[in-house]
Amino acid sequence: MSEPAAPIWVGTSWKMTKTLAEARAFADVLAATSWDPTVQPFVIPPATAIAAVAERLAGSPVLVGAQDAHWEDAGAWTGEVSVPQVADAGARLLEIGHSERRAHFAETDERVNLKVRAALRHGVLPLVCVGEDARQREAGEQLATVTAQVRAALHGVPDDAAVLLAYEPVWAIGEGGTPATPDDVAPVVEAIAHEAGPRRAVLYGGSVSLDNAAALLEVPGIGGLFVGRAAWQVEGYLAIVETAVESARRR
Ligand code: 13P
Repeated sequence: MSEPAAPIWVGTSWKMTKTLAEARAFADVLAATSWDPTVQPFVIPPATAIAAVAERLAGSPVLVGAQDAHWEDAGAWTGEVSVPQVADAGARLLEIGHSERRAHFAETDERVNLKVRAALRHGVLPLVCVGEDARQREAGEQLATVTAQVRAALHGVPDDAAVLLAYEPVWAIGEGGTPATPDDVAPVVEAIAHEAGPRRAVLYGGSVSLDNAAALLEVPGIGGLFVGRAAWQVEGYLAIVETAVESARRR
């Protein structure tokens, strides 16, 4: 008997957007949505809204995540929240090493690794973001860059520990980002999968939209999409989910 096909991950990080009322309204729509099992949905609210969103999505297949957490379980770390705290609020997934954190908040490869281990210690699924910047891409260093980031993130992590990876080229993310093409993405996804091991899904993120989602989901070995702006309105998110369902049917 062949193994069932792995679901396509489709998630969004809201980054530093949304009031509690906006987060609840988004979650209420997700709670009322019927989900196709070919897709594994997830949402990553700001820390202030994790509990409210998780309460509304209890019993739904939508996984709720946190955008970051400290590597220590508790202590004198003013302003931080820990993995046990975000898990207590309802997070089942932890985003780690997003390029905005690497660029602005001293998120080093070492800290990424500490956070991966902290997540795994508490049964929270790490979602590790890696990606080269424009200069590295220009110099043809993308494969070496992401391979080193993945190796560092997974240092000392058992091969059988569940970890998600997201390829997020820095030059493709956010306002002013240039969407990567499937040809840009394919060799890097292959390199990440090679370094991370065959059972770990590799998502793509960076200016994903309804215009390019279907083409990106054709990249060999791609495990899903991690969406920012295009999914900050629930209709936008659900439209990309629908694209992924159609893509899964063609697989
Ligand atoms: P955008 O889709 O807004 O470019 O953001 C991508 C991202 O950083 C997802 O984590």
